[in-house]
Amino acid sequence: MMEMKKPTLITSWYEIRAEAVQARKQNLKVGLVPTMGALHEGHLSLVRTARDYCDVTIATIFVNPTQFGPHEDLNKYPRTLDDDLARLGALEVDFAYAPSKEELYPEGFSTFVEPPSVAKRFEGECRPGHFRGVTTIVLKLLNIIPAHIAFFGQKDYQQCRVIQSMAQDLNVPTLIQLCPTVRDPDGLALSSRNQYLSTAERTQALSISKSLDDAEGEVSRGQTDMRRIVDRMRNTLEAAGIEKIDYVDIADAQTLEPVAQLQNDAVALIAAHVGITRLIDNRILSHR
Ligand code: PAJ
Repeated sequence: MMEMKKPTLITSWYEIRAEAVQARKQNLKVGLVPTMGALHEGHLSLVRTARDYCDVTIATIFVNPTQFGPHEDLNKYPRTLDDDLARLGALEVDFAYAPSKEELYPEGFSTFVEPPSVAKRFEGECRPGHFRGVTTIVLKLLNIIPAHIAFFGQKDYQQCRVIQSMAQDLNVPTLIQLCPTVRDPDGLALSSRNQYLSTAERTQALSISKSLDDAEGEVSRGQTDMRRIVDRMRNTLEAAGIEKIDYVDIADAQTLEPVAQLQNDAVALIAAHVGITRLIDNRILSHR
């Protein structure tokens, strides 16, 4: 058995802050990977990238209550701290910050971040209040941990754009780095929610990445009419039996505003329910 050193587990915000400040004083580059735990290869790829770019890597594990809607899966959200720490240890992560709810939202907490305009559509429309919770917790984490770089996955593309926009607007000096989506070999984007899919549902779910492949294929063949591509994507989803599509669309990759013709880079975005499981995925469509 390989010796695995678990990361130092810290639960108080001033202690993790002191570690990060100390590292910076020693001229070490500090990397931050915020997560809600239940770590899979998608999260771990962010951790590996952080380790490649930085001297000290801090992963945070916190199931943030303020980003869940009243009917969402906050209480059901998987909590696997011991496994998570072992996984982080195998990657030689230096610190895991796993605060309690009371540590970050004590009695009397009442200040929230108003999310930027890129939060308006898509997830912002389907999940009212979600990005308000995300921007609030991420700004708190960036304040607690003065990292040089914070790493976010393309899997949640709009979330990353929202955080980049917030960081720019509010003069947060941390670089917000987007990292590629990790997929299963069949194309399904890794998500902690995939474990809820039956075999039949998993087959249906594959139509999501398939329709993103379609979109990319259309663009590479010179199609610039986004409406036609969106129609084709929707057909692919419906042909697989997906009935509840929250959105399937193409938007400007920076602003997430509507685009009719491909001019700048765009992003194809999908959110759909497969059985009772809500899945999201996206693909950047590069304008050549
Ligand atoms: P969570 O869903 O745990 O995701 C943590 C990070 O892992 C996010 O940046 C997410 O985009 C990334 N990630 C998830 N699946 C991925 C995949 N298949 N490939 C690459 N990256 C992937 O996103 C959150 O937590 C929260 O909203 C958080 C930012 C921690 C704020 O609470």
